[in-house]
Amino acid sequence: MLRSFLTKQVHFGLYNTSTILQRTMSTVPTMKAVVVKENGGRDKLIYEDVPRPSATLGNVVIKNQFIGKTLSCSFFLSSGEVVELGEGVTDFKIGDRVVHMGGNGYAEFSEVSATSVEKITHDVSYETAAAGALQGLTALTMVKSGYPVAKDDYILVHAAAGGVGLLLCQLGKHLGAKVIGTASTDEKCQLAKENGATYTINSKTEDIVARVNEITGGLGCHAVLDGVGKATFEVSMQCARRLGTMISFGNASGAVDPISIAILAQKNLKLMRPTLYNYMATREESRYWYDELFKLVEQGVLKFHVHKVYDLKDAAQAQQDLEGRITTGKLLLRP
Ligand SMILES: NC(=O)c1ccc[n+]([C@@H]2O[C@H](COP(=O)([O-])OP(=O)(O)OC[C@H]3O[C@@H](n4cnc5c(N)ncnc54)[C@H](OP(=O)(O)O)[C@@H]3O)[C@@H](O)[C@H]2O)c1
Repeated sequence: MLRSFLTKQVHFGLYNTSTILQRTMSTVPTMKAVVVKENGGRDKLIYEDVPRPSATLGNVVIKNQFIGKTLSCSFFLSSGEVVELGEGVTDFKIGDRVVHMGGNGYAEFSEVSATSVEKITHDVSYETAAAGALQGLTALTMVKSGYPVAKDDYILVHAAAGGVGLLLCQLGKHLGAKVIGTASTDEKCQLAKENGATYTINSKTEDIVARVNEITGGLGCHAVLDGVGKATFEVSMQCARRLGTMISFGNASGAVDPISIAILAQKNLKLMRPTLYNYMATREESRYWYDELFKLVEQGVLKFHVHKVYDLKDAAQAQQDLEGRITTGKLLLRP
């Protein structure tokens, strides 16, 4: 599984090290970055000096403050300050506080397309923005658009103490739903409860389907929000009620096996596999969801739990901790 994370990263190109190595020998200013020179395990995340980027056409350079660590190294959100504008960039000015979603960010500075950047318009710190925006937007779009959660709904959230999971618990409670959270330890279950889960199920020691039936009087959940993927898919389908919705939004345990759509007919289920990008494809959509998110942060509805801030040089350790499932909430890297 790890091999595929890093393979992806090479494709997305944090830094293309073959060209970089030629240029590093010259006198261009350098910066610290985590680069991947070959596919492999977390030991291939190498911290070293690379040329500092400058802004080309349509791009900006951001001085990164915090980088949100995710299991997949190729997709994450970072926060920072705009320090350079490329030709044609009119939406931003030097000094703007921004977030950036995508890749190209395990570094002191990142050159990114201005179209992938948003201003932090509210009274939200860099740390909070990096800690919560990616998972926050994922959770928010799911409970508002994927399945509009209503008061008294039963919502099953897998990995409820994970980054997205904790925020789904908070949002579910805010919307008046009864959140049933699963997690692999009692400590994680407790954290899910503190974040709004009404019920929790220890996924290692309890039968999830039986407990959901017990809690919902045998009816099942109005919606199941599943970021675990392969390991939980069938359980999730069993936990959804007739006419319910199953949202499979992540693959923490691996990709879900192919299915026959005929299984949906058993309960007239709606099955969805969203990605955040498709909710935020235009500037207007992106602005809308960030505004909604930052408002909820300002109102204190959403609180982001930071597990730990790691030095950028310790990115491999952060990766190991995430894979080891010993973390709760968000891991941040600090250049
Ligand atoms: N669709 C989108 O646009 C989108 C956006 C953001 C994230 N995601 C995806 O959503 C999922 C959750 O993201 P997150 O940021 O909340 O991740 P996270 O904080 O790392 O949480 C993942 C949790 O999944 C559980 N898990 C179960 N099996 C696992 C395994 N084999 N390896 C690792 N963890 C496992 C663990 O909780 P327990 O120990 O309690 O089981 C773990 O804490 C990820 O797959 C991520 O890629 C999707």
